[in-house]
Amino acid sequence: MTAEAKQLVPGLAGVPAAESAISYIDGTAGVLEYRGYPIEQLAEKSTFEETAWLLMHGELPTKAQLDGFARDLAAQRALPEGLVAMLRTFPKDAHPMHVLQSATAALGAFERDVRFGDEEDFRHAWLRIVAAMPSIVAAYERMRRGQEPVAPKGPELSHAANFLYMLDGSEPDEIAARTLDVALVLHADHTMNASTFAARVVYGTNAGPYDSISAGIGALHGPLHGGANERVLQSLETIGSVENVRAWAEKQFETKGKIMGFGHRVYKVKDPRSFALQTLGDQMFAKLGHTPIYDVALELEKVVVERLGDKGIHPNVDFFSGIVYQKLGLPTDQFTPIFAIARAAGWLAHLHEQMQDNKLFRPGQIYVGERERDYVAIDQRV
Ligand code: COA
Repeated sequence: MTAEAKQLVPGLAGVPAAESAISYIDGTAGVLEYRGYPIEQLAEKSTFEETAWLLMHGELPTKAQLDGFARDLAAQRALPEGLVAMLRTFPKDAHPMHVLQSATAALGAFERDVRFGDEEDFRHAWLRIVAAMPSIVAAYERMRRGQEPVAPKGPELSHAANFLYMLDGSEPDEIAARTLDVALVLHADHTMNASTFAARVVYGTNAGPYDSISAGIGALHGPLHGGANERVLQSLETIGSVENVRAWAEKQFETKGKIMGFGHRVYKVKDPRSFALQTLGDQMFAKLGHTPIYDVALELEKVVVERLGDKGIHPNVDFFSGIVYQKLGLPTDQFTPIFAIARAAGWLAHLHEQMQDNKLFRPGQIYVGERERDYVAIDQRV
């Protein structure tokens, strides 16, 4: 497409905005790979730390690299005192995504300047953002419950385990820590989606990584994107039982209401992350006990796919994630912040790619407004 292109592509659907070697999707075969590795293998064998390294560097880390990365990340977990003071000023009923977006941008104000193109500066920001976002989410969660934030532990706790520790003040069991760890792996990157594009657009202006990640968080908050996961759980709770599913769904079909957790701009089959989250859920429910809302979800999937499957509408990543998070005891409005904690790894890999071959984003438009009008004095307007 050139600057003169006149054909509008609503939502830029399918228009390539960059060359990228980070993740790959085949929307009809239901394939997702990070740096060429299938998501199913990473979910089974990898960890969030290893995946974050892979996304940034393009290769799986050696043992020494992974240990060093885990130590470096852990060293960046604690928040500046000023930022903690700022978190205390938010209303207790604020949406945690507003808090996370503001605090991530504010973190940049407490950090050294990041010179665009400087690898060392970028590496520091990468560690700081990935490590500090869970600390922000956990600190605000505790504050709104009327509790004091818990200081992070060192590299003896994984990224996922330390986050759960900072929320509750006690170390999580292995099942909880591994479940969250896998969920973070599954959410870590997903090609040129709205939030990744937003982050790359901001970074393309040579703004800093803190501003750019904050922009990504803002885009992720929307219910058509990451904000869908908390709404899925709200819908399932409204439905309440398996018997109510069909009537509830029929009403949505009649009114052409969007059913949250279904449909995707790229996938026209069931999202591979959705399968992986179900496997994760099944393993967790087998150990921790069944959760009735899962039966409601399975029935809703059946009814929606029966009606809309032919249109390529199937469960996406947000459909089962909330059920898993709820079983971990996480509050519904923290589901999207947890998505953001994971996606930070992908966003930062994309910023790094943008940095290496930057071109300011400046799309065109098709102007459809008035032209060449004469100014009308205020007393002559009707
Ligand atoms: N429930 C019911 N109908 C849906 C639907 C859903 N979740 N998603 C899409 N559709 C229908 C639309 O109503 C539209 O029908 P029409 O052709 O009869 O008008 C058609 O499918 C195309 O939808 P559209 O929204 O234009 O497609 P898109 O490619 O822009 O949609 C999403 C992608 C993700 C925005 C959309 O599927 C959606 O809103 N899903 C719900 C939110 C969600 O779960 N988001 C998380 C994405 S990971």
